[in-house]
Amino acid sequence: MSTAYLRCMGEDCRQEYPLDHREHLCERCGNLLDVRYEFAWGLPGAPLDPCALRDTWERRKSSSAVIDQSGVWRFRELLPFVSAGAQIVSLSEGRTPLVDVARTGDWAGGVRLAIKHQGNNPTGSFKDLGMTACITQAAAVGSRVTACASTGNTSASMAAYAARAGMRAVVFVPFGKISAAKMAQSLEFGAVVIEIGDNFDQAFQMLRALAEEMGLYLVNSLNPFRLEGQKTIVLEILEQRDWRVPDYIVVPGGNLGNVSAIGKGLAELREAGLIDKLPRLVVVQAQGANPFYQMLANGASAVVPISEPRTEASAIRIGHPVNWRKALRALRLTQGLCESVTDDQIFAAKAALAQDGVGCEPASAASIAGIRKLVQAHTIEPGADVVAILTGHQLKDPEIFLRHRTAEDMSRQRIHVDADVEKLRAALEGVLLQSA
Ligand code: F0G
Repeated sequence: MSTAYLRCMGEDCRQEYPLDHREHLCERCGNLLDVRYEFAWGLPGAPLDPCALRDTWERRKSSSAVIDQSGVWRFRELLPFVSAGAQIVSLSEGRTPLVDVARTGDWAGGVRLAIKHQGNNPTGSFKDLGMTACITQAAAVGSRVTACASTGNTSASMAAYAARAGMRAVVFVPFGKISAAKMAQSLEFGAVVIEIGDNFDQAFQMLRALAEEMGLYLVNSLNPFRLEGQKTIVLEILEQRDWRVPDYIVVPGGNLGNVSAIGKGLAELREAGLIDKLPRLVVVQAQGANPFYQMLANGASAVVPISEPRTEASAIRIGHPVNWRKALRALRLTQGLCESVTDDQIFAAKAALAQDGVGCEPASAASIAGIRKLVQAHTIEPGADVVAILTGHQLKDPEIFLRHRTAEDMSRQRIHVDADVEKLRAALEGVLLQSA
């Protein structure tokens, strides 16, 4: 058996708390908390060794049990905060494909590139992996009302999992700043949507001011149980690669929960003896919303918040990332890197992916844009073995894509023809001539 508890991440503090502790920050020093485990493996008589673990996870793929169908809970030996037999709130999340994208790899400067597409999750983003863990924990501690601030994906995911768990969901989003598709998801799953402030950071600040007083269970990524679910992304990647560790794993960064989760997952995999080296983690921010990048570039010791973050990749329009300390820990652990890319570079990366038949929301394409920039700077070497995580589905934000099309693209690709065979013939002749 493994023992689980919460512990302050502060190296000088390390205050411990029981799992049902409701606060997400350390009461002593205000730092973030981690879910920690005393793993039993390695001890004489331990139930599982690395080979046995791999076999167990593999075997569960063909089981029809809900807990085995989930790409998160299939790896439950690494998430032992849930007691055996506890109710799991799952939508069969995870189990997403790892796809080679050779053209995009060439475009990025000649790397061997595969994408791990988190858009293939139940609500269309990687948030579902964290949400199954977090809402399962919310249910275990008897929460009735969940809440989050969001740029649209966390809220869609929370609304779905809260509905499934029979809980109420209250979502805080910046007014007029999230995509219609994401708004529709939250509404359809029955959440109440409070539109407040100009950006994510303001909405989050408002929520935090009243969450405790109003008894709201906060599921933003400062909730450490979210990161427990999200760390399984890297377990799946490695399993899909027969446990061969890539040179780089690249993610877009907003609130910096995902890069933190992946770093924790890698540390635990190494501790469990499932891997013996680490990939370098790369986090890519949008240029107008890049406080973490700026902190590292300036050699500063703390993030300086950006009060008016700007980028058309609305999912990562965040000026004050709550998880920056955990993200820094993940980069230090893996000799990681941080890059910053413009919106034009993001949309160029999205167009490159489209040539491989892969779509994603703009924020996700930041990973690819970052790889190209790092190859150009000779930081990532051509031929490197790279996995980019695409965080959200293509249909999450179609309006912004359509706004980015040039008039020329549109007249070439979108043609209105009267329902008349002669006119259609003329139009098709024009089309065939174009592609000849
Ligand atoms: N990609 C997408 C599609 C996202 O929705 C987010 C974050 C990120 C990347 C960045 O991940 O915050 O862990 O660094 N979206 C949050 C939300 C903020 O509210 O949906 P991160």
